[in-house]
Amino acid sequence: MYEQKSHALLNKILIELKQDFNDTESQPFLTRLGANFYSVYQLFISFYGHRPDFEKQLKQLVSVMAQNHYERSKSLRKSDLKREQDPDWFLSQQWVGMALYTDGFAEDLKGLNKRVDYFEELGVNLVHLMPMMKCPEDASDGGYAVSDFCEIDKRFGTIKDLQAVAKKLHKNGSLLTMDVVLNHTSDEHEWARKAQQGEEKYQDYYYVYNDRDIPDQFEESLLEIFPENAPGNFTWDESMGKWVMTVFNNYQWDLNYTNPAVFIEMVNVILFWANKGADILRLDAVAFLWKKIGSVSQNLEEAHQILQLLKDCCQITAPGVLFIAEAIVAPNEIIRYFGGDSVAEKECDIAYNATFMALLWDAVATKNTRLLNQSLKSLPAKPDQTTWLNYVRCHDDIGLGYDDKDITAVGYEPKAHREFLIDYYMGKFVGSTARGLPFGYNEKTGDTRISGSLASLIGLEAALLAEDKEAIDNAIKKTLLLYAMILSYGGIPLLYYGDELGTINDSSYLQDPVKAEDNRWVHRPSIDWENAEQRYVSGTVENRLFNAIKKMISVRKATQAFADFNNRDVLNVSNPNLFLFTRYEYQTPEVSILVVANFDDSPHHLYYEEINNQIYFDFANNKDLITQEKPEMHETYMVIPANGFYWLEQ
Ligand code: GLC
Ligand code: GLC
Repeated sequence: MYEQKSHALLNKILIELKQDFNDTESQPFLTRLGANFYSVYQLFISFYGHRPDFEKQLKQLVSVMAQNHYERSKSLRKSDLKREQDPDWFLSQQWVGMALYTDGFAEDLKGLNKRVDYFEELGVNLVHLMPMMKCPEDASDGGYAVSDFCEIDKRFGTIKDLQAVAKKLHKNGSLLTMDVVLNHTSDEHEWARKAQQGEEKYQDYYYVYNDRDIPDQFEESLLEIFPENAPGNFTWDESMGKWVMTVFNNYQWDLNYTNPAVFIEMVNVILFWANKGADILRLDAVAFLWKKIGSVSQNLEEAHQILQLLKDCCQITAPGVLFIAEAIVAPNEIIRYFGGDSVAEKECDIAYNATFMALLWDAVATKNTRLLNQSLKSLPAKPDQTTWLNYVRCHDDIGLGYDDKDITAVGYEPKAHREFLIDYYMGKFVGSTARGLPFGYNEKTGDTRISGSLASLIGLEAALLAEDKEAIDNAIKKTLLLYAMILSYGGIPLLYYGDELGTINDSSYLQDPVKAEDNRWVHRPSIDWENAEQRYVSGTVENRLFNAIKKMISVRKATQAFADFNNRDVLNVSNPNLFLFTRYEYQTPEVSILVVANFDDSPHHLYYEEINNQIYFDFANNKDLITQEKPEMHETYMVIPANGFYWLEQ
């Protein structure tokens, strides 16, 4: 959009920068700078326009974008232009991701480079490496307390090693995802160090206060993220003699985005990793980016505008790079992180589908799909050209973030229902074989979250210990049921490393004093590669899980209707144990797949008439995409096996 004042200022800035934009490769950069500039200017002025140094700051921002443009390699620029021509590229069903800790998977980056074949074997072509930036040697919240945003921690290797991994992945047509921890730094970061030494410039990078006056006002409405290990949201810093805001752990200092210098530094960090070859950046804890006294300081409108501004800036220099929103918040709030629409007010291209994840765990525990069906129906549609990241487990705990209205609508009492779920996953509920651990218990609210690996939560750990063949079969079925859901629902499925081998809880973290207090480590495994060989031994748990997931991945990739063009309808069904949705091809809607899942331990009937009242589906001629066989068919219904699912094609 052309607007005189902002463009006059841009022209002035470009002349002052004295950079030569005459090479042909700078043309696309200049086009994008012009196209996005009015939006950048408007947002930047709304945040920082009151400052006397506003123009200087804006010039610095343009300079950072230009500098990073010059540093962007030819091949990455080429890939930007290719993606620009096919903006739907990441909505394809071809993408299948895996998240992993580099050291848990392969010791370090060099080791990981030698294990890239494993991804190919399984069909994974998007790899999310958990944070690897320089961080303190002791507590670092699993790498989420960063002490240098532009350095790889020596435990993992070097930037060169990372680039070698990126190169290898790209050569295979795979994508690299990396974290950018936007909300806070470690207290060992140079900025924090300088703040501690009294440098006002760097104290302004954080929320720093002389006394409790403002902190107390904030505390009235702020929540606690880690109530057990890090109660309160401010930490007294002895060397500074001041209070600093620390919403997460007390060693994680919240960055202050009311300061334009912070914003510009973080744009630089984003572009730095984009230039090192990251295709996708996972923006950590985005709901927390803006703080305001009198509010919970999550999901504030300003946090969204900061993301819009980051997106605008990233699009100018590295338009092929995508953002993932990590916003584990209420269902109606998550969806807002995609932004206003796919062009204007764009925020993130991808978002963690924490809603679907938590609902799947509800269905497993209750063995019914009432809350799952109800909640999905109350969700607004997401914008075009955005996609979900669908997952079952990740490195974090599972929060029971359902909407209370939905819980009530299906006839439960919210508090009692959450208590049931916690009991269930702790293995305390009669008949439950889950082996989870309570995480983040909050004395004041009674809230608890859940730690534990997929295999332990689903009952595989208990079944293996009891050598109970039937229970093992059942746990495998349930695992595959969950994976079948995230592979077909629409969005990029993100496997969590170890799930494909049935990796159970690992209590060794208790021996490490730095980790012992944080039981999320119970589900952050080190892969036992010798044991992983079991995947080739017919009949083992590893073999059954690995092969079945591998097969599902290959079928997903071959099924166009599984691409994500918001081409899904959740169907009504009177049987409360079943979950049904249809996926249809975007261009040819008559080509559709019917996904049917049964979350109960008994088989259930699906009546054709009920479905044909909603959509046309040719039950007479259907078959399952995975087995290529017909389900058990009767005149008016078909049978869905206990904890089973079908991907039916007609
Ligand atoms: C994100 C991470 C989580 C971390 C938190 C604070 O939510 O996923 O592991 O504890 O941010 O950085
Ligand atoms: C909270 C945050 C989320 C983070 C989690 C870590 O739920 O909202 O971002 O992953 O804590 O436990």
